[in-house]
Amino acid sequence: MSTLVAGVVGEPAAFLHRYPDYETTRSLDGLRATEYGYLDELDQVYLDYTGSGLAAASQYQAHHARLATGCFGNPHSVNPSSRASTELVDRARRAILAYFNASPNDYAVIFTANASGACRLVGEAYPFDRRTRFVLTADNHNSVNGIREFARARKATTTYVPSTAPDLRVLDAEVRTALGRRSISARRQGRRGLFAYPAQSNFSGVQHSLDWVELAHRQGYDVLLDAAAYLPTNPLDLSVVTPEFVTVSWYKLFGYPTGVGCLVARREALARLRRPWFSGGTIQTASVLGDWHSVTQDESAFEDGTLNFLAVPDVEFGLSWLTSIGIEVIQRRVRCLTGWLLDRLAGLTHDNGAPMARIYGPRDTMHRGGTVAFNLLDPTRAVIDERLVATESATAGFSLRTGCFCNPGASEAALGITRASLRGAHHKGAGTLEGYLTLLRLPSGGAIRVSFGVASTIDDLQRLLSFVEHTYRNRPTTTCGLLPRTQC
Ligand SMILES: Cc1ncc(COP(=O)(O)O)c(C=O)c1O
Repeated sequence: MSTLVAGVVGEPAAFLHRYPDYETTRSLDGLRATEYGYLDELDQVYLDYTGSGLAAASQYQAHHARLATGCFGNPHSVNPSSRASTELVDRARRAILAYFNASPNDYAVIFTANASGACRLVGEAYPFDRRTRFVLTADNHNSVNGIREFARARKATTTYVPSTAPDLRVLDAEVRTALGRRSISARRQGRRGLFAYPAQSNFSGVQHSLDWVELAHRQGYDVLLDAAAYLPTNPLDLSVVTPEFVTVSWYKLFGYPTGVGCLVARREALARLRRPWFSGGTIQTASVLGDWHSVTQDESAFEDGTLNFLAVPDVEFGLSWLTSIGIEVIQRRVRCLTGWLLDRLAGLTHDNGAPMARIYGPRDTMHRGGTVAFNLLDPTRAVIDERLVATESATAGFSLRTGCFCNPGASEAALGITRASLRGAHHKGAGTLEGYLTLLRLPSGGAIRVSFGVASTIDDLQRLLSFVEHTYRNRPTTTCGLLPRTQC
């Protein structure tokens, strides 16, 4: 950490005055010192909780203790080591359903590698055809956007609901229009298609309305609710909100284990999916000579091969860890920090009066989570290249994110890219990201993203603000010497 930044910490009185709720979250400071003490030992300022949550020391200890005292084999058998694994995996499924207040009669838990794997399971098996529609918000992670390729391959129509700058919200009225009214003949035909949206944007932190689930149901759609960015700081009650499919990456909630996500799906909706293949673990029987197979009748029909059976049980521990802290406490702290970051960024100016930051997304804490996207501006109001900020902030010990965060719809809306300006760009764009950006005459290739979570403190945020002021106030910047962008 640069000496410039270290030492400029502490809790400004103005912050505590404006966000008095912060005082009610002091239990998290104790955990920061003990369970997440590695951050301060390593002098790290971690501000990428939307990228990944952080694990507590207790989680690693629980994993180690379990493995040190048990013998766990491949779950596909009845021997003792296999049964030990199966029992823990089943316990994890029950713990997940209990966490979401979901009845096991209504919902099933399918373990995947991550949220993207859960999206793919739905996309490849959803019964798209030329009469069905795939409706999704422009604000979506690429792992949801990618489902459109399955829809396209089966001749279904894809419709995007736009995000509106500067707040980057999606208007209720636009959702209603995109879903369309359900005619009497459509009612007879059954399902009209799939509606997919994130409960919280991984780009702007916008929280989209959970009421859209019921709205879409009334219009005849199944709903895929991407909860990957929402769950780390918000509860979800599946007895109240009832989407057909919910996608989750567990490391985003509590850092560990990685490589384990899940699709939480309504059983009746699962029964309507058609898997394009079968594999070990998903079938009751298969014949080579007879060229037939029959799939299992439960969630295992969607779990290809052997589960990560040494890591899946860590999800149960992670959930009890989160519950013991209280998701509402985390949510409250994150809201206070988000509010202060927005206030301070909006107020930062160069000596000539020019603003130092351009925020993308909502400016207050209403209906938004703890993810803030912005660009820094130089004294001429030009965007400071996010690659420069990436390098300099990393050198100073900050973990934050730059780029478009796999959410091209939100970044297109944020940067004011229109359909007209994009026309032909894909073909003319020289096949590289840099070529594409030059063609569109964009001021930058993306934004800076700061996000808060369980171990965040006001000290972390003050350090960031201090770094930004010291490094970029009144400084003309250049893009000389920056390596070309290779990925969005
Ligand atoms: C909203 C959202 N959906 C889906 C994903 C994909 O998650 P994963 O990369 O763990 O599959 C992410 C990851 O950042 C996300 O933020």
